[in-house]
Amino acid sequence: MADVADYTPNVAVITGSAQGIGKAIALRLAEDGFAVVVSDLGTKQDKMDALVEEVRSKGGRAVAIPTDVTKEADIINLVDKTVEEFGGLDVMIANAGIGNASTFLEMSVELYDLIMNVNARGVMLCYKYAAQQMVKQKRGGRILGASSVLGKQSAGMYLAAYSASKFAVRGLTQSLAQEMAPHKVTVNAYCPGCIITDMVDNPALDATVGTGAPGGFIKYITGIPLDGPEAGPDVVASYVSYLCKPEAHFITGQSLSVCGGVRLS
Ligand SMILES: NC(=O)c1ccc[n+]([C@@H]2O[C@H](COP(=O)([O-])OP(=O)(O)OC[C@H]3O[C@@H](n4cnc5c(N)ncnc54)[C@H](O)[C@@H]3O)[C@@H](O)[C@H]2O)c1
Repeated sequence: MADVADYTPNVAVITGSAQGIGKAIALRLAEDGFAVVVSDLGTKQDKMDALVEEVRSKGGRAVAIPTDVTKEADIINLVDKTVEEFGGLDVMIANAGIGNASTFLEMSVELYDLIMNVNARGVMLCYKYAAQQMVKQKRGGRILGASSVLGKQSAGMYLAAYSASKFAVRGLTQSLAQEMAPHKVTVNAYCPGCIITDMVDNPALDATVGTGAPGGFIKYITGIPLDGPEAGPDVVASYVSYLCKPEAHFITGQSLSVCGGVRLS
C-alpha cells in the first residue's frame, strides 16, 4: 500500500469540467495547487476557456483540452497532451456523464448504448490510459470516477440505463484499485445524491412537483424527499480534494455517497 511519500500531487485532469460538478472540482484542485486540465466536449469550448481564465486569474495553472470521452483516440490525446503541457499526470477525475430518462419497457437500445458509452465506457477509457501513464511515471497517483447513489441502488422506473452505467463505474473502480495497489495509485468513486447542476435542473418538469424548485423532478422520480437536504457541487469537490491529497493514501476501491444521508450504504 502507498504511503504519503509515494505520491506527488501536481497535475490533474477533469473530464466533463466545463460546468457543474466537474467545474467545481477543477476550481478546487487548482486552489489546492494542481495544474488542471479542463476537458469537455468541443461544443463547450467557450465555457472551458472561461474556466481556464478564471483559474489563471487566481494565479493557477490551467489549459483546456476538448475531449469526447466516448472516443478512445480523444482520451489518448488527452493524456499525451497533458504530459506534454505539464510534464506528467497525477490525478484523473473521470467525471463526464449524461442522464436520460425512460421507462425500462420503452427504453431503446440506442438510448441504452448512448448512456453506457459515456458513463461506463468513457470512465473505462479514462481509467485505462491514466493508469498506464501513472505506471510509467512511477510516482503514484489518484484516479476517481463519477458514480451516483443510483450506482448503489436503483430508484424509480425511469433511470435503469443510468443506474446500470453507475453500477459499472463501481465495478471498474474496485477492479482497477486492486490492479494499481502495487503502483501506489488509489482508485475511488464518488456517488452524489441530488446535486443542483444543469443535469438535474429541468424547469418544465420541476414545475410539476412540489414548489417547482430546481431538481424537484429528479428527486421525485428517484424517491428523494423534496424537502430533503440541498447541496451544490462544492460538497463533491471538497470530498474529491481530500482523496487527492497524499494523506488519503489508505482509501482505495471505495465508492462514497455524498448525498446528505438520503441513501445509506
Ligand atoms: N448532479 C447530480 O445530482 C449528480 C448525481 C449523481 C451523479 N452525478 C454525476 O456527476 C457527473 C457530473 O454531473 P453534473 O451534475 O456536473 O452534470 P452536468 O450535465 O452539469 O455536467 C456534465 C458534463 O459532462 C460533459 N459531457 C457529456 N458527455 C460528454 C462526453 N461524451 N465527453 C466529454 N464530456 C461530456 C457535458 O458536456 C457536461 O459539461 C456525471 O457523471 C453525473 O452522472 C451527478
